[in-house]
Amino acid sequence: MFDDVGLFFDALSDDYTKAIERCFPRYREMLWALVDYLPADRSFGSVLELGCGTGNLSVAIHDAFPKASLRVVDLSQNSLDLCQTRLETCDGFVCEQNDFGTVEYSKGSFDLVVSSIAIHHLDSSAKQSLFKRIHDWLTEDGVLCFADQCAGANEELNTRHMENWKQLSIKAGSSETEWDMWMQHQAECDHHDTLPDQLDWLRDAGFTTIDCPWRFLLWTVIQASK
Ligand SMILES: C[S@@+](CC[C@H](N)C(=O)[O-])C[C@H]1O[C@@H](n2cnc3c(N)ncnc32)[C@H](O)[C@@H]1O
Repeated sequence: MFDDVGLFFDALSDDYTKAIERCFPRYREMLWALVDYLPADRSFGSVLELGCGTGNLSVAIHDAFPKASLRVVDLSQNSLDLCQTRLETCDGFVCEQNDFGTVEYSKGSFDLVVSSIAIHHLDSSAKQSLFKRIHDWLTEDGVLCFADQCAGANEELNTRHMENWKQLSIKAGSSETEWDMWMQHQAECDHHDTLPDQLDWLRDAGFTTIDCPWRFLLWTVIQASK
């Protein structure tokens, strides 16, 4: 069952927020950083979110840019239903069940593309293709900002990340069974690439200003502007 990303998050959707806050206790801080570091002088009109889940980032984006039209995409229909309930009164809100590994939009459709803990479900080559497609979907001065898990640059650093993360998660209330559930999902569905590789791929895709404004262990916020 866990080898299908959409079905895994369908099954988890009702408990997702509590589970992710136990899994990664700095989850809310990471979402805050993603939104806070967006260019302060910009009022984004059209926003795309990839892998919205139950809508925690979607709500934060709507609060920060209440006039923006927001399109959210996810594989998990149960998660999308919960996201829809939280945002259905917002003008210009669109929920789409689709795979962001293959979905296409017209050139220059969005001022801002955001995502949180979702892009690591694509392998290295699919990530590189996604970064190029996002570059096309963005307007001339468009911005991509996403939070995700990055591999350590070598085996030793990666092992330290995983050990420290597990300690943090257990301290925050995850049981060993719950941790094993995340690790089984990770082994079957996740593809962690290093931060330097992803920064290179963003530059190859055509982005010019690229930075990592927040990082803790393997958890990272990456911002790239055209
Ligand atoms: C860990 S959850 C993150 C949810 C939310 N963004 C958050 O920050 O809490 C990952 C989400 O990405 C979605 N997802 C993963 N791969 C996807 C893909 N290729 N296309 C669309 N959605 C995907 C999953 O269904 C899931 O809802």
